Order: sequence, then C-alpha cells, then structure tokens
Amino acid sequence: MRIHDMEFAPFISSSEMQERITALAEAINKDYMDKTPVFLPILNGSFMFAADLIRRITGPCRVSFVKISSYQGSESGGELKTLIGHEESFFNQDLVIVEDIVDSGLTLQKIMTELRNLGTKSVEAVSLMRKKPAREKRVDVKYVGFDIETEFVLGYGLDYNGLGRNLDEIYKAVNS
Ligand code: IMP
Repeated sequence: MRIHDMEFAPFISSSEMQERITALAEAINKDYMDKTPVFLPILNGSFMFAADLIRRITGPCRVSFVKISSYQGSESGGELKTLIGHEESFFNQDLVIVEDIVDSGLTLQKIMTELRNLGTKSVEAVSLMRKKPAREKRVDVKYVGFDIETEFVLGYGLDYNGLGRNLDEIYKAVNS
C-alpha cells in the first residue's frame, strides 16, 4: 500500500490488537478496582485505541481528551511541548495517559512531569506501542500493548503526514 511517497505493509492485525487491548483493559481494571481513574487520550493519534480500550473499562472513570502543542522555548530555543485542552482540575486524581506510540519518550516524560506538578494523586501511562529507544531509556510506561523496533508505523489512529488514521490495522513502512 502506498501513502504519499512511502510503501507500507500489514504489521499488526485488527484481531491481534483487540486481543491485546482486552488484556490491557483487564490489567487496568484490576489495578484501579477501587478508584475512579481519569483517562487522558492524547489526540490525535490515540483516538481509536482510546475508544477500544476505554469501552472495556468496567468501573467508574472519567475521560478528558488532551492535545500536545509545541512551542519555541525562549531560553533554549529548543522545541518544548505542553499539554492543552484539559479543563477540569486533576488535583488528587488518578490519571492514566493514553498514548498511541512512545518513541524517544520525550513527549510522554514531559507530560507526566507536567501532570505530576498539578497535585495529582497518581500518573501512569498506557501505550498501544513502544519503540526500542523508549525501552532502552526505560521510559515510564506501565501498560504496553506491543513492543516494536524502530519501524515507522501508521493506521489505527496513527498517520503519515495526515493520512492513514482511518485504517483498521497497523501497517509498517517497508525498508524502514
Ligand atoms: P516521542 O516523543 O519520540 O516518544 O514521540 C511520540 C509521538 O511521535 C507519538 O505520540 C506519535 O505522534 C509520533 N510518532 C512516533 N513514532 C511514530 C510512528 O511510527 N508513526 C506515527 N507517529 C509516530
């Protein structure tokens, strides 16, 4: 399958994904049995994963969709990321960040620090996929669907330059 200038091949099927998501939800249901967690799906990439995961959560929970915005830091000149879109207070709440994929882990680490500074009770993360760099750096992701190498993937919410989010399974770039 060709998208823009890249060739993609099937990688993780819809049924494999659903099976894994059921297992992730079971683990979360067990860990949050007596709690009311707030799920924070990071848009846009995690919208499909979040829908399939959260519909399997059996206890009371809240959902607050958030986005990451990038801006130029005035001091370092580097790109800083910040969380936008949340309205309610997260004070004393048990948060579960819902990510599509963790690569270098920089995005997730930054958000987790930001959220922990809001007086939250706990902050954990669930990610459908985790790439090798995040594994090597031991980035703090409590629940992981699939450990992959460094291949570029798309589908099931993830895009390549805007396309591919609608695909029902995960594809990987050929020769990447
Ligand atoms: P990190 O900060 O390097 O961990 O980057 C994480 C973000 O980069 C994810 O939330 C995705 O939006 C994006 N990303 C990383 N790898 C891929 C990929 O293979 N396909 C699509 N998006 C990706």
